[in-house]
Amino acid sequence: MPARVGDLLADIATPALIIDLDVFERNLDRMRVHTSALGVSLRAHAKMHKSADIAKLQMSRGGAVGVCCQKVSEAEALLRAGVGDILVSNEVIGEARVARLVRLAAKGKITVCADHPDQVAAFSRAVMAQRAQSGNNDLILDVLVEMDCGSRRCGTGSIAESVTLAKAIATAPGLRFAGLQSYYGRAQHIYAPAERQAALNESIALTTSTRDAIRAAGLSCDRVTGAGTGSFEIEGASGLYTEIQAGSYAFMDADYAKVRTTDGSTPGGFEHALFVLATVMSVPGAGRAVCDAGLKAVAVDSGLPLVAGTTGVKAIGVSDEHCNLSDPDGQLRLGAQVRLIPGHCDPTCNLHDWYVGIRNGRVECLWPITARGKVF
Ligand SMILES: Cc1ncc(COP(=O)(O)O)c(C=O)c1O
Repeated sequence: MPARVGDLLADIATPALIIDLDVFERNLDRMRVHTSALGVSLRAHAKMHKSADIAKLQMSRGGAVGVCCQKVSEAEALLRAGVGDILVSNEVIGEARVARLVRLAAKGKITVCADHPDQVAAFSRAVMAQRAQSGNNDLILDVLVEMDCGSRRCGTGSIAESVTLAKAIATAPGLRFAGLQSYYGRAQHIYAPAERQAALNESIALTTSTRDAIRAAGLSCDRVTGAGTGSFEIEGASGLYTEIQAGSYAFMDADYAKVRTTDGSTPGGFEHALFVLATVMSVPGAGRAVCDAGLKAVAVDSGLPLVAGTTGVKAIGVSDEHCNLSDPDGQLRLGAQVRLIPGHCDPTCNLHDWYVGIRNGRVECLWPITARGKVF
């Protein structure tokens, strides 16, 4: 473990993933206030932090009705640790994996997505097999149609396909049609508010038409779920979405800090709560310092980390175990600690075993990253 409860920041073995608990709690509170003002449920995306402790806090303090996971193994780890209501907001493929998912549905409240009739048939077969094996004839799996509303990731490609799939779910033994997932990931990262709004207007219009067509086919479609940190204020105000899947709001990474709302602020007013604490291990001169958090401690897919609490110090490159910093004014001494704000929180969290929670300069808690490496 990188630290013990009561340690000072200086005692923490670096690189370590630290959470500013005051800021983190403010982020949870802000999201609770936003979602309640918008009249939507929050189903926080746990793929971001992969922690059962954080998921439970999002549900108790933060008002979430449950969480999302992206992988069956992630859901298994969180359910085992006591998180009882999970949407696997993704497609699940392969007989063995589907069987694992269905076994989870026997233990907790599980919902999953589908975008193809073969997945629906596989879910139904697996539920019926599990019923036969366990004698539990009440076992039922909730399945959402996932539609492509612009992301060009997974999802049905037309309204007609969505309606056909919804009917297939509704008539398949052992399954219940649970509604629509419409998630527009790319739109969340459009920094300019007018462009983001325009992209989301299109996806909201398509999602509304899809929901209405499913209803016109005689099915009830009361749950529309999707959205994230960069877009939830727009989808949440649309009157269409009933459930918001934001994840990054709890930590806020450097990329989301570039997204602007119409009044120039960051989405939801969320602040950076997550840092990679690193130590300066070399000061080679010429306005440069090197710290001990490289690619194995901080993800750079959304750009290099920012350096918190300094002016003029910048990350200029990373390799496996090192981060090169430009320090034109020579502020950094050997052994000094720096706090890096990751460009992207999700893949950064998956690199660590522990969150170290900090308040008033001391370690208050250590939370295991329960589903670290659970990507299968
Ligand atoms: C299906 C789905 N829902 C919600 C989210 C949450 O987004 P964010 O962490 O950006 O708030 C993601 C993130 O990629 C996602 O894939």
